Amino acid sequence: MKDHTVTLIDNRTGQKIELPVLHGTAGPPAIDIRRLYREMGYFTFDPGYLSTASCASTITFIDGEKGELRYRGYPIEQLAEHSTYPEVCYLLLYGELPTREELDCFERSIKNHTLLDEAIRRFYTGFRHDAHPMAIMVAVVGALAAFYHQSMDVHDPRDREIAAHRLIAKMPTIAAWSYKYSVGQPFMYPRNDLGYTENFLHMMYALPTGAYRPDPTAVRAMDLILILHADHEQNASTSTVRLTGSSEASPFAALSAGIGTLWGPAHGGANEAVIRMLQEIVESGRPLQYYIDRAKDKNDRFRLMGFGHRVYKNYDPRAVIIRKMCHEVLAGLGPDDPNQALFDTAMELERIALEDPYFIERKLYPNVDFYSGIIFRALGIPLNMFTVLFALARTVGWLAHWMEMMADPNARIGRPRQLYIGYERRDYVPIDQRRPVEGAQPSVCEHHG
Ligand code: SDX
Repeated sequence: MKDHTVTLIDNRTGQKIELPVLHGTAGPPAIDIRRLYREMGYFTFDPGYLSTASCASTITFIDGEKGELRYRGYPIEQLAEHSTYPEVCYLLLYGELPTREELDCFERSIKNHTLLDEAIRRFYTGFRHDAHPMAIMVAVVGALAAFYHQSMDVHDPRDREIAAHRLIAKMPTIAAWSYKYSVGQPFMYPRNDLGYTENFLHMMYALPTGAYRPDPTAVRAMDLILILHADHEQNASTSTVRLTGSSEASPFAALSAGIGTLWGPAHGGANEAVIRMLQEIVESGRPLQYYIDRAKDKNDRFRLMGFGHRVYKNYDPRAVIIRKMCHEVLAGLGPDDPNQALFDTAMELERIALEDPYFIERKLYPNVDFYSGIIFRALGIPLNMFTVLFALARTVGWLAHWMEMMADPNARIGRPRQLYIGYERRDYVPIDQRRPVEGAQPSVCEHHG
């Protein structure tokens, strides 16, 4: 909307500034504060970026109040029902749903890049077998930069596209090999006669000793999970990829940084944390209310993993879809299946939490991670691989945002400022004149006696 402005008045100096308001296609408008520091000498203060738009983007839209998620304008519910993960990858990267020829060409290109340089196999043997697969993913994806550094110009659109295809193609191989290494089984090579998701499950579960064909239900369930996790606007890991990429760093290094960010239990690591929480609840025999009360206790770090979201103040639409799939997948399991107990506990926890004023007032609803872990378990995915699957799915989202940023001629290196609250200027004190400072953070040496 042209000529929409807001005026800031400094009530100490009377100085004022009129700032333009930017209106997007949907969602809240944004006050353009780019002149604020230059003309008024002020920073804005927004730790955690709750009210800050870091960029303009055309890729994904979220309405947190209504619980809506759209990739390039298409509602996630329609993509979940009708699309496939490779088709969603094309949509996120190129902005449009592909024609049959475009999709076939894209899938052929992906299949051309599924192999890893044989030298990368040796990276895995450097880890202990109990290494967390996310630690392996951070290392191996970052190491890819060493194999493509010379041939990669981040300012060349074609180089960026080839890097994107390489990463989308190689992530299933890297992920499956991190699992195989953790269980001491031989690595399985990608098979180009299989579809993207089927090939991933084949590399995860096939053995050289015999033929293996993934169950079509498992392939469909996994493909749906990948679609639901493919992108999510400017979440912490995507913002990390954008910030790393803004320094013109390699996309392999940028995605390695994104994987590290996703690993945190406050972010993508929540899916693993949810199952650990449900397992503890089931094994403890304690009433659910004990855990609800702990989650509400400010003196207790315990939180209900899988609940709450920075943006969704309604049901996470992905949780709605996965919750329904949980029922379908678990309907096929026996009543004594351990997942049934976890799922029953999850449903009871959800019911109690959603009736509790603490959660209602704070609009804390189950998010995508609350149910995805149960599906992964039902698919036989080991717990320490849950966030790896999230990273596999989110690879295309990270790349779409990296490519959007790198294609922007106005893109600049990201460099936030701060509100400094440390010491004023002070002069150096020779060591023989120093005394311990009252209340200072004791160094670790104190504990060594
Ligand atoms: C993902 O950003 C994305 O889009 C992420 C993601 C994606 O696709 O990329 O959607 C994926 O990361 C989903 C979120 C997975 N994380 C979890 O499930 C971990 C549990 N959730 C919380 O850690 C928390 O809800 C966050 C981190 C998700 C959101 O934190 P915010 O937005 O900073 O909210 P907050 O910590 O300021 O909480 C607001 C209030 C606080 O209470 P008060 O200080 O107001 O009294 O709600 C409370 C919090 O204590 N609260 C919770 C809670 N989450 C928030 N209390 C108990 N249990 C919880 N889970």
